[in-house]
Amino acid sequence: MSTPEKLYEGKAKIIYATDDPEILLAYFKDDATAFNAQKRGTIRGKGEINTAISSHLFQQLEAQGVPTHYIDCPAPNEMRVKRVNIVPVEVIVRNIAAGSLCKQTGIAVGTVIEPPIVEFCYKNDELGDPLLTHERLLLMKLATPKQLEQITQLSLLINQLLSDFFNECGITLVDFKLEFGMTSDGQLVLADEISPDTCRLWDQSETDPDRRVLDKDRFRRDLGNVESAYQQVLKRVLEHTPN
Ligand code: CDP
Repeated sequence: MSTPEKLYEGKAKIIYATDDPEILLAYFKDDATAFNAQKRGTIRGKGEINTAISSHLFQQLEAQGVPTHYIDCPAPNEMRVKRVNIVPVEVIVRNIAAGSLCKQTGIAVGTVIEPPIVEFCYKNDELGDPLLTHERLLLMKLATPKQLEQITQLSLLINQLLSDFFNECGITLVDFKLEFGMTSDGQLVLADEISPDTCRLWDQSETDPDRRVLDKDRFRRDLGNVESAYQQVLKRVLEHTPN
């Protein structure tokens, strides 16, 4: 087979073309970045772990009626996905206050957010992924009003389904980031990945605010045991995935 054409290399993934123009191959790297790539490192085994976690979560969401770009995993670091045009908006859903919400508003870390909120950031590294208002998002034509409504409703549904699932795993889904894309036949689907890189996940059996962290905050905040936290999430996801 000829060497596949590399279409794009991001911070955590490389995207390759395949023989089928409607299918892309995502290769998940062990590279980790934080604070808009100002902090760089490697989390050993992360590529395989995130591929496996994302694959299980995408399959469960699909089974519960959420359209995703997921097709299958031909190798431990690789995911075949439908080709989509990514909507250049990062959708953040928050159940508990953490991260930039606390920094920007002064709300205390750990405050329960009920009902959950959905936020939109402009997917633009040069500008530092700024928080957008609905009006700015529409002004910039990053999405149509219909897409925005669909994205919001799907994100809340995904939050409900993932929160319930992680609860069964003894994990609290604090917040997470989603990306959506449009397929060539005009369907809006969930894209990118769902993993400890893109979610805040707190172990319900730990009360200590540092020890409970099972996500990329261990890397961001130099808390140590990053690999074992990611492995712990995968283990629980596999244990609780219905056959
Ligand atoms: O992580 P940070 O404090 O910079 O930003 P946030 O807005 O509090 O992040 C909310 C959630 O989205 C966290 O689970 C982040 O891991 C995730 N996120 C992401 O995956 N990619 C980004 N570019 C920004 C946030």
